[in-house]
Amino acid sequence: MATYKHLLLLLLITATCAQLPGRWQTLLESAGIASMHTAVTRFGTVVLLDRTEIGPSNLTFPDRQCGPRHDCTAHSALFDPATNVLRPLTIATDTWCSSGQFLPDGTLLQTGGDMAGIKKMRTFSPCGVDGACDWLELKSISLTTGRWYATNQILPNGTVIIVGGRAAHSVEFYPPSATVPIRDFPFLAATEDPQLDNLYPYVHLLPDGNLFVFANTKSILYDFDSGATLRAYPDLGTGPWTYPSAGSSVMLALNPEDGYSKAVIVICGGTSYGVFFKQDVDFPARTTCGRIVATDPDPSWATEDMPMPRVMGDMVMLPTGETLIINGAMSGSQGFEGANNPCQNPVLYRPNQPDGLRFMTLTPTDVPRMYHSTANLLADGRVLVAGSNPHYFYKFYNVSFPTELRLEAFSPEYLDDDKANIRPTIEMAPDEIRHGAEFDIEVTTELSLVGIVELNLASAPFATHSFSQGQRLVRLEVTPPSMLVEGGGANREPYRYRIGCKAPPNGNVAPPGYYMAFAVNNGVPSVAKWVHLVL
Ligand SMILES: *[C@@H]1O[C@H](CO)[C@@H](O)[C@H](O)[C@H]1NC(C)=O
Ligand SMILES: *[C@@H]1O[C@H](CO)[C@@H](O)[C@H](O)[C@H]1NC(C)=O
Ligand SMILES: *[C@@H]1O[C@H](CO)[C@@H](O)[C@H](O)[C@H]1NC(C)=O
Repeated sequence: MATYKHLLLLLLITATCAQLPGRWQTLLESAGIASMHTAVTRFGTVVLLDRTEIGPSNLTFPDRQCGPRHDCTAHSALFDPATNVLRPLTIATDTWCSSGQFLPDGTLLQTGGDMAGIKKMRTFSPCGVDGACDWLELKSISLTTGRWYATNQILPNGTVIIVGGRAAHSVEFYPPSATVPIRDFPFLAATEDPQLDNLYPYVHLLPDGNLFVFANTKSILYDFDSGATLRAYPDLGTGPWTYPSAGSSVMLALNPEDGYSKAVIVICGGTSYGVFFKQDVDFPARTTCGRIVATDPDPSWATEDMPMPRVMGDMVMLPTGETLIINGAMSGSQGFEGANNPCQNPVLYRPNQPDGLRFMTLTPTDVPRMYHSTANLLADGRVLVAGSNPHYFYKFYNVSFPTELRLEAFSPEYLDDDKANIRPTIEMAPDEIRHGAEFDIEVTTELSLVGIVELNLASAPFATHSFSQGQRLVRLEVTPPSMLVEGGGANREPYRYRIGCKAPPNGNVAPPGYYMAFAVNNGVPSVAKWVHLVL
């Protein structure tokens, strides 16, 4: 009888799980390091980066050769999600809680950290996993002030702005500006509270060429050329919303239909003031998201509720324009040993659905992804999930949430087999595009197309601490597909189409750099082609 009941229960659980969309895969049982910073390169390889002052990791160099540090292990690695091959990288000075951004030529720039790394600038000129690329610690230039918990954002002209950091109420630039080596940013002093709560500010480059900067409960429109605050947005309230109490934030897709004039910012989850100080691990996280049209003349925050509370989630812009909210916990705060109740169900946010119908709960993972975990969109449409180490050092035993070395991928419902016949394949697209240029792509599909195919450019952000620095999705203006080859027939030949596209008009809409170009047919994306948007 007991067995029968168990079986019933099991069936029930299985049935319930099977109803939820999306699938999980374990890619590696151990990446050897817990990645707290993660970025996808234009070769499709992924840079995993932890901190160095953490004791030995579980990743050694080949032939037991020693790393640059006394512990002889690696604290960064290059991972290839196509083959699941991993190669250790060498990094010497501490990268703990640092920031980064891809430069216009596809080089990853990483700045700051802790201890000897606090003023460091490092570059990583990427390659495939078989290549020899590795970190380069720059010797001739460094940050003007130490930066730990800063946010970087690439600007329309390809310069990177580096915003804030602990006790750093200022901004500076890469390449370093000769005339403005550093500039005060009083907004960060004004948003600091005793818990700090203004760290890792949410920075979004708006299509009007100014920055939306959010810290604690406040946000402003910031002119990075002059340093002027152009406007203050209404207070989001019931805060704080940034580190160490953070939710996560995205700018929704930019659209040609409104002439790229409209930018909507969404911030989801987080926790209340005091939870971090008290290490109140069971204090329920927030369910609320705030949403504001930052380009409106007189905007206000609208709020909506997620199906479950979440602190330190990660918001990932999917190729479709929907947002995945993934990782994190249902109680507590960021910081070491700060949280409990992992939130193992991702949630899909569908911004164009009516209010009240926007959230969809997705298939849960078995792996808690607590403090120091990351999520990044891959060119094949999957989302790579890495990290989770809520401890000061690596701890694998006798703790509720051991240091997590497994790499997983979440496949949204659009990758389901039953959608394969409408999945477009990009057969032809340019390698390089310029702002405003018209160009053609060619796609094939198994079934003939009904309606428009979108071409959407996704940036490759630097993901850390629940915010993906430089994340954006830009929808391009497209013509209706014109059929080149009629498919079907006895051999089920693919249909082939040509689509006319127009590159983003300027660097405000899309700063220079490498983007993943996804063709999207009826909510189903192709594998992306990397295109280089040049000035
Ligand atoms: C990492 O290495 C430690 C020390 O060798 C070992 O005890 C632990 O099981 C390893 N963890 C994983 C997940 O491989
Ligand atoms: C790019 O913009 C930044 C920010 O305004 C400015 O400091 C820098 O001088 C500009 N670079 C060039 C090459 O114009
Ligand atoms: C875990 O805790 C138990 C009980 O306190 C102890 O016997 C054991 O040695 C600990 N294990 C490790 C790996 O620290």
